[in-house]
This record gives sequence, structure tokens and C-alpha cells, in this order.
Amino acid sequence: MEPFWSAAVARSGRAAGVDCVRMARIWSDEIMRRRKKKLSLNTIIREAILVNRYRFHRHDGLFDYEWDEINYNRKAVVNRLLSLTPDGEYLEIGCAGNDLFDAVMARRKIGVDPVRGGTHRMTSDAFFASYKGPAFDVVFIDGLHIYEQVRRDLDGALRWLRPGGWVAIHDMLPRDWFEEHVPQIRTRGWTGDGWKVAFELLASPDIDFRLLTIDHGVLVARARTANPSIPDLSATLANARFGYLHEHFALLPTVGYDAAAAWIAECGGGSSRNTSGSGI
Ligand SMILES: C[S@@+](CC[C@H](N)C(=O)[O-])C[C@H]1O[C@@H](n2cnc3c(N)ncnc32)[C@H](O)[C@@H]1O
Repeated sequence: MEPFWSAAVARSGRAAGVDCVRMARIWSDEIMRRRKKKLSLNTIIREAILVNRYRFHRHDGLFDYEWDEINYNRKAVVNRLLSLTPDGEYLEIGCAGNDLFDAVMARRKIGVDPVRGGTHRMTSDAFFASYKGPAFDVVFIDGLHIYEQVRRDLDGALRWLRPGGWVAIHDMLPRDWFEEHVPQIRTRGWTGDGWKVAFELLASPDIDFRLLTIDHGVLVARARTANPSIPDLSATLANARFGYLHEHFALLPTVGYDAAAAWIAECGGGSSRNTSGSGI
């Protein structure tokens, strides 16, 4: 007997005027997987329609990280970075339910989010346009997960980082095309295409970084020089999709948590407070 969701997907597909037979076929295995995750039928159908719309972007590559089975997450990373600077000052871009923000141990915390959480109800662009200081010891970027925005957030963060300070970026490791796709398809666990910034950092003599294979990918970076700049590879990267990441993945400095902790320790202490610091 045909599974009930095939009929539901086909009905909603007809209503949206898409190729429902093809859509039902592409989605039958995906839907099985997602029903186990207790997503609502509305969500499944909405995603099915979008998968059909963007089916020509589909890529079969897969990184089989099981994030739930790795016992470190972004909170461990941020608190480790802050532990290098007693009484540190912290900025988080994108706070949502304050899951991370409330767990961070810092003397002063600023959280920027236009919708909820944090301390400043505005976009990161508006924040960086109006912020007057002081500089931060650690900045965590987790706002709008699209390449151009992550790039602007990193640029703003580097301008407001104390010498020796750290920037971390969340959701840098999509496991498949569906988690990565821009415009967003996946409702939960969407990483977007911020990963493109990692390839720009590879080309930068000014910035040292590691990509931690924990919690959907956490990139940790620090500047090697004053006034670091991010190389602009947008001509190559703007239209790149998940396949580019999959094919060039081996170039990235990926590490587990322990190796990252050793690297952080090697880099030396935290940031320096001897400047009030507008930028490095
Ligand atoms: C993935 S959630 C953040 C989760 C949080 N950092 C944590 O670890 O618990 C992403 C948040 O970014 C916010 N956001 C979206 N666009 C933004 C922007 N332009 N500037 C700042 N935040 C943004 C969203 O409102 C959402 O709350």
C-alpha cells in the first residue's frame, strides 16, 4: 500500500503546481527519516515542496558526523576562550533562546538579535554601525547563516576585537546539501552557507583558524596581525553550493575538541587590555 505521506505530499504538490510524482519519489526515504524526528506534517510537506523546487541543486555528498554523540559543544569552546581572559568581555551575534548566552561566563555580555534573546534588539549590521566600544575579548557569530552576512559579521568582529582576542563562528559544517541550502529549506538544523568564509580565511596571511568538528562546526579564529583583512573570494564562492565544500573539504584545518584546545593553549594567553581598542 502506498504510504500515507506520499498521498499527502502529492496533494500538496498538486496544490502548489509542482511535479508531484517526482517529488513523492525523491522524498519518500527523507520523510521516513524526518518522521522519526517528530517533525509536523506541515513542516515535512513545506520542506518537500522546497526540495522539489531546488532539486537541481541536490548533491549526494555526505559528512557523517553525529553531533549528539560528540560530548563537546559551542558552550565548551566559548567558555574555554573566555577562561584565557579573567573578567572577559563577550559579544554574541544571534542569541535566540539564550541557550549559549546564559551559559557564558564573562564580566560583560552583549547579545544582538533582531527577534529574541540577548541585550540589543537589532541586526548585527545596525549594531556594528552604531557601536562605539569598548572592544571584546571573545565574539561568537551565530546570526543569519548566509555567506555575505557571516562575512560582514566577521569583519565587524575583527574590528572590535582586542589584540589577542578570539572570534568563533557557529554552524560552519553542513553535513549535506539539504542542511546547507540557501535559500533555507531545512526548518531545524539549518547551517546555511557561512562555510564559504572558511575558504577565504585559508587565503588570509592575517588570520589563523581551526574548524572544530563539534556541534555543527565551530570555527575558531584569531588575528596574527593588526588590522587583519578577509580576502574577497566572492567571485568563486558566491554561487558555490554544497558540492564545492564536499570537494574541497580536505583543505580545511578541521580538528576535534582536544586538538583545538591544545592549539588554543599554544597560541598563548587571552587578549590584552592595554588598549581600549577600537579594532586590533
Ligand atoms: C541559531 S540562532 C542563535 C542560537 C544561539 N547563538 C545559541 O547558541 O543558543 C540564530 C539567531 O540569529 C538571529 N538573527 C537572524 N538574523 C540576524 C541578524 N541579521 N543579526 C543578528 N541576529 C540575527 C535570529 O533571530 C536567531 O535568533
